[in-house]
Amino acid sequence: MKIDERIEAFSAIVENALKKYITVNGYGLEDAMKYSLLSGGKRLRPVIVVETYKLFSNDQSIERALPFACALEMIHTYSLIHDDLPSMDNDDYRRGRLTNHKVFGEANALLAGDALLTYAFSVLASNELVSAQSIRLATKTLADCSGFAGMAGGQMIDINTHVSSYEELEQMHALKTGALIKCATLLGYFAYCDTPDEKVVEDLTKFSLNLGIAFQIRDDILDKIADEEVLGKPVGSDEKNQKKTSLSFMSIDEAQSKVDALTNEAIEIISKYSKDGECVLAELAKYLVNRKK
Ligand code: IPE
Ligand code: IPE
Ligand code: MG
Ligand code: MG
Ligand code: MG
Repeated sequence: MKIDERIEAFSAIVENALKKYITVNGYGLEDAMKYSLLSGGKRLRPVIVVETYKLFSNDQSIERALPFACALEMIHTYSLIHDDLPSMDNDDYRRGRLTNHKVFGEANALLAGDALLTYAFSVLASNELVSAQSIRLATKTLADCSGFAGMAGGQMIDINTHVSSYEELEQMHALKTGALIKCATLLGYFAYCDTPDEKVVEDLTKFSLNLGIAFQIRDDILDKIADEEVLGKPVGSDEKNQKKTSLSFMSIDEAQSKVDALTNEAIEIISKYSKDGECVLAELAKYLVNRKK
C-alpha cells in the first residue's frame, strides 16, 4: 500500500477510536471537544505511534498502541485549539472549518482544550494491554513533551518572538513541534516494551526531532505558498502576526533544502531498524517533505 493510502486508511481507524472515548455527558463541553478532535486532520502523530510500535513488535494488531496514539492526538488537538485563540495566533479556520473559539466562544474553547489535555492522561492510563511500567514511562513522556520543556514552552517562545537567529528558531521548532513528534515515537516504543534500550531511545529521539523540525519548516513554507482550500487553515497567518519563522532567516528554496537535509538524516537513522527491507517511518518522512497540507 502506498504511504498516502496507508495514512488515509489509518486515519479512519483513529477517528473511530477517538469517537468511542468521548461519550460522557460533560454538560456540553464534549461538543466543543469533539468538534475539533473529530474534524479530520492528518493524524500524523497517531500514525507515528503505531508505525513505531510495528517497527519493533511482531504483533500485527495495533491495540496496544492505539490508546497511546489517541491520547497524543488529544494533546495535539488541544494545542491547536489554544494556538488559534485570539490571544495567540488569532486564526479563524482550522482543518477546513471555523476554529473552535469561532463556534463555541473563547471561554469554551479554552475549556475544551483543558479537557482534552487532562482526558488524554485518563485515556493513556486506561491502556489495559500494556504493563504498569509502560504506562509510567508513557505518562512521564507525554507530560514532559507537552509541557514547559516541550510544546507549551516552544509556544511561549513563539508568541514572545524572542528568536534572533536560525539556531534559536530551530530550538523553538524542536520544542513547539518536535517534542510531540518525539513523543509519538517513544509512546510507540513504550507500547512495545517497558525496559527501553538506551540506544533505541536515542535513535528515535534524533529521528523524530529532525522530522519535527523539518515538519515545522515545511509548515512555515506552506503558510506562504499553500492553497488555502487544501491547507484547511489560513495562509499568511505568520506574516499577519509578524512571527519569526524559518522564512525570516532564509529563502523558500533554502528552507526547502533544510527540510530535505533534515529528512535525509532522519531516514538514515531510522532505516537501521527496517524490517524485511521495509521502513514505513522512512517512507512517511519522505512523503512529508513535499506535503501540500
Ligand atoms: C499543525 O500540525 C501544527 C504544527 C505543528 C505545524 P498538523 O499539520 O499535524 O495538523 P493536523 O493535525 O493535520 O490538523
Ligand atoms: C504551532 O505552530 C504549533 C503548535 C504547537 C500548535 P503554528 O502556529 O505554525 O501552527 P499552525 O500553522 O497554526 O497549524
Ligand atoms: Mg502558533
Ligand atoms: Mg498557528
Ligand atoms: Mg504555521
